[in-house]
Amino acid sequence: MGESVSTIERAAERLAEAAARKSSTANKTPDPLADDPTTGAPAIDAPPVEAENALVETVADEETGAPSNALRTQSFVGGGYHEIDLEALQAKGFVTPGSIRSRLAQEFRRIKRPLLVNAQRRRSVDDEHPANLIVVTSSIPGEGKTFVSINLAMSISAEVDLRVLLVDVDSVRGSVSDVLGLEYDNGLSDVLARGGGHLEDSIFKTNIDHLSVLPSGSDLPNADELLASEAMDRVVRDLAAEDAHRIVIFDAPPLLTGTEAGVLSRLVGQVVVVVEADATPQATVTEALTRLEGHESVSLVLNKVQHRGKGHAGYGYQYGYGA
Ligand SMILES: Nc1ncnc2c1ncn2[C@@H]1O[C@H](COP(=O)(O)OP(=O)(O)OP(=O)(O)O)[C@@H](O)[C@H]1O
Ligand SMILES: [Mg+2]
Repeated sequence: MGESVSTIERAAERLAEAAARKSSTANKTPDPLADDPTTGAPAIDAPPVEAENALVETVADEETGAPSNALRTQSFVGGGYHEIDLEALQAKGFVTPGSIRSRLAQEFRRIKRPLLVNAQRRRSVDDEHPANLIVVTSSIPGEGKTFVSINLAMSISAEVDLRVLLVDVDSVRGSVSDVLGLEYDNGLSDVLARGGGHLEDSIFKTNIDHLSVLPSGSDLPNADELLASEAMDRVVRDLAAEDAHRIVIFDAPPLLTGTEAGVLSRLVGQVVVVVEADATPQATVTEALTRLEGHESVSLVLNKVQHRGKGHAGYGYQYGYGA
């Protein structure tokens, strides 16, 4: 196991310790998920059964216990429709409805579950940093943000009671659209350039029932500045307020190549930092995490882990979680 792996383990331990300290002092009301392993230390092995139940419960109406009507209300999506070539996507190694039994799909179930539990639990508690908004970032380019964002979105789209919007924030590369084969005239940067209005005109519905996509938009010369503008703040708040049962995943730029990912992370309730195993130097990960210091909820996904032993080699994930 390389240097960067132990870095993540240590970082995850620190995050988990901080989370434990925080919940023991701050949380005065009984918390049904307090002992749930998914909210504490790195947990990739045990399937979080309690968390699944909790999700179903919290999705039900809080007063009557009946299934929430809000879930039957269609979200606004006015931009258009894109047919994702699911066979091609599966061939590229992504999670699709046709590969729900695959090892990768199982791994993303483990990764999404604590994020969804957190989103439900903190709904309405923290309007300042909506937990249904999740930024996926990394320290440096190429660690797997787009890979993780798309797979996470695919995995969440299988949830019966949730919807998911995948937002391509990285206008330099625009890779979500590339991977999904989505062609567009208009996207996030165009929305921002007009001050944040008519957001719905740029959102695409897809052939995956609960999945919609907001592409990155035109390659504008001030795209970076737009991401740090007040219009972005408005867009993020609109996305959060529009539909509490929709999880929004932002495929963001890396933390260390500019300030945009750090600024965006401050607007949302949850951040996932993708780390490429055995590749990203320890000091780099540490420096990236300092950009998120004080954030409510930072998760780490260790990507491209080589599984060794029993004659099997492949990719996998390790998950650290904390506040
Ligand atoms: N777990 C994985 N298994 C197999 N291939 C992977 C995995 N993670 C990433 N890749 C591949 O590695 C390459 C880089 O990944 P990706 O594009 O997701 O990185 P990124 O962090 O989004 O990069 P950028 O900073 O350029 O946006 C892609 O070709 C992707 O398909
Ligand atoms: Mg990318």
